[in-house]
Amino acid sequence: MDKKIAKNRIEKLKQEIDYHRRQYHVYDRESISAAALDSLKMELFRLENEFPELITADSPTQRVGGEALAKFQKVVHTRPMISLYDAFSEEDMRDWEKRNINYLADRGEVPASLYYCELKLDGLAANLRYENGVFVQGATRGDGKVGEDITLNLRTIESLPLRLFEPTEKELAALGLKGEEIKKLLSLLKGGVIEVRGETIMSKQTLADLNKQYALEGRPLLANTRNGAAGSLRQLDPKVAAERRLEFYAYDLILGDYERGEVVGSRAAADKLVELLGFKRVTDNKLCRGLAEVFAFQRHWEEKRDKLPFFIDGVVVKYDDLSLWPRLGTVGKAPRYMMAYKFSAEQATTKLIDVVWQVGRTGTLTPTAILEPIKVGGVTVGRSTLHNLDEIERLGLRLGDTVIIERAGDVIPKVVAALPNLRTGREKIIHAPLHCPRCGAEVSRAGEDVAYRCLNKNCYAVALRRLGHFASKGALDIEGLGPKIVEQLVDEGLLEDAADIFSLRREDLIGLEGFAEKKADKLVAAIKLRQAVPLSRFLFALGILHIGEESAQTIAAYLSESISAAVCRPQELLQTAKNHSLDDWSALADVGPVVAASLLAFWHSADTAELFAKFEKSGLKLLLSLPAGGNLSGKTFVLTGSLSSLTRQEAKDKIKAKGGKTKESVSRSLDYLVVGEEPGSKLKEAEKLGVKIISEEEFLKLIQ
Ligand code: IVH
Repeated sequence: MDKKIAKNRIEKLKQEIDYHRRQYHVYDRESISAAALDSLKMELFRLENEFPELITADSPTQRVGGEALAKFQKVVHTRPMISLYDAFSEEDMRDWEKRNINYLADRGEVPASLYYCELKLDGLAANLRYENGVFVQGATRGDGKVGEDITLNLRTIESLPLRLFEPTEKELAALGLKGEEIKKLLSLLKGGVIEVRGETIMSKQTLADLNKQYALEGRPLLANTRNGAAGSLRQLDPKVAAERRLEFYAYDLILGDYERGEVVGSRAAADKLVELLGFKRVTDNKLCRGLAEVFAFQRHWEEKRDKLPFFIDGVVVKYDDLSLWPRLGTVGKAPRYMMAYKFSAEQATTKLIDVVWQVGRTGTLTPTAILEPIKVGGVTVGRSTLHNLDEIERLGLRLGDTVIIERAGDVIPKVVAALPNLRTGREKIIHAPLHCPRCGAEVSRAGEDVAYRCLNKNCYAVALRRLGHFASKGALDIEGLGPKIVEQLVDEGLLEDAADIFSLRREDLIGLEGFAEKKADKLVAAIKLRQAVPLSRFLFALGILHIGEESAQTIAAYLSESISAAVCRPQELLQTAKNHSLDDWSALADVGPVVAASLLAFWHSADTAELFAKFEKSGLKLLLSLPAGGNLSGKTFVLTGSLSSLTRQEAKDKIKAKGGKTKESVSRSLDYLVVGEEPGSKLKEAEKLGVKIISEEEFLKLIQ
């Protein structure tokens, strides 16, 4: 091939290959198949072989190449690679803001409150130098003034452009750059120096893939993504870095001799600009108005960091106004302009207060550690599973011990060690219980089984059924607390009885399987809605033997009369109920001697006293039935078919609120049958018995 034609073709191929590289490595879009791209690279490689004098530093064939180095050369940074100050709390951040406001005020300058929040990637910082748009040198941070030349290793990173892409004037104007600024930038791209700083990282997926491969090959595994990235960049042989599939994310841009803020004034715009130049950037970075938004951003990512493809250890909070970087200056080792707001540590120490035993589906007794509440991994932890007695023995735990708690990412917190040197001598040995803590039945441990089990088959099932009933539609109707979730919460040791429902907190739920933040918040909100409940529903929800929906209404009306207030506390209710005799209960309509005996036994049992004490503590309020005199007082209703404007439960509540009663079956004494769409056999029965039949419309008028 003629050299001139080859030169042309090489230029075109380089551009085409770089276009697809950008699509794939910067924007995560596959614009061409890997095989077709390889084929283009092959053609370029062949042409360059034929005309070696046409090989340039920005050619994609030059990413991996060169011999292993004997040692790294030193590189003096044109501007020091400073470090960052760390904040660990909202208070630290407020102090930082205050200091800056005062600093600016002393100089007669206006404070700023627009922040650009960035994810703080956990890898190795690098400085990339581009001369006339071409990547010429890459260096580590080193001591901040002098780093090491790792150009060959950095070249292997596909998300790092070997030649900067030239944005159009229109694209630059869209970032808010003015004519003069656009001119300065474009001239630096063509004939000046541009430096880009950022983090070199290994993704979590790459670490997993490489370790899988290394395990098969019997090679030592990489400890984590940080070591994976830092370790490979410090290798003298660039082939190692090439194999590690590293990525580079840009977070700072230095334009020639200009101060930061001089050409591009906004950090948010500078972040978008690096993308236009051909770099990958973190697209989750966000502009925040004021510290409240900054705190929300930090909290959000502390909880969601597991969803990211890479590890982060905090957020970096920067002023959006880049001119504040030089204006605020440096103090000690870092600029005042920005702050690393770190996530809370993933390990903390606390006291083991108690160990309680939960009864699981198969009767298994699982020990749960009750801890002095402690913030770890961003959430407050007060309990954690200990799995079984063997685990307690393995950890050598005693009651009263100081223990190390770990909560890494989204996983459930666990006790990882005890610190026996801190013992006082008053710590107690932890024994397995001899009797089931729920039903009192005998407990056994068979053969090799590590678990202790309750031998009463009904124990767990009864508890589940009771709790399921309490939350179900006709009872408290707590949305999102169906049988499956009840079972999960019982298994996790969060629910033992109905009163525990009201002490469920957001932080108990987040981190459980299937419980993201939204679901946890929804459930807590649904429970809160039932913090004040109609007494009749509550009585039905308690699952007292022989008490159905109808008798619960009768009893509620009766008790309401005795209390004669609109609202009462659980203990008040219990006290009032206990004042009634067997004869009192038997005298009620719908209540025969069997039901009356069941009621009496319930009100006077020790379990009820304990349960009501817990209800009282949870702040539950009971709404008493309207005293007789509601306009439907004494009237009975049966509903059939579906109503279009309200649910069956809502209709029942409305009837009750007006002093009426609902029944399930039609009888001669029934006052109204309300007929909705597609009524059942009750309609025929009512017609036969001569009961008054009303439509939904008539019903609505009645209850208005
Ligand atoms: S700006 C060199 N922004 O965190 C100082 N740093 O703990 C430039 N880091 O060495 C700081 N993500 O390598 C900045 N979005 C980000 C960052 C970030 C990660 C690293 C950086 C620095 C370390 C300081």
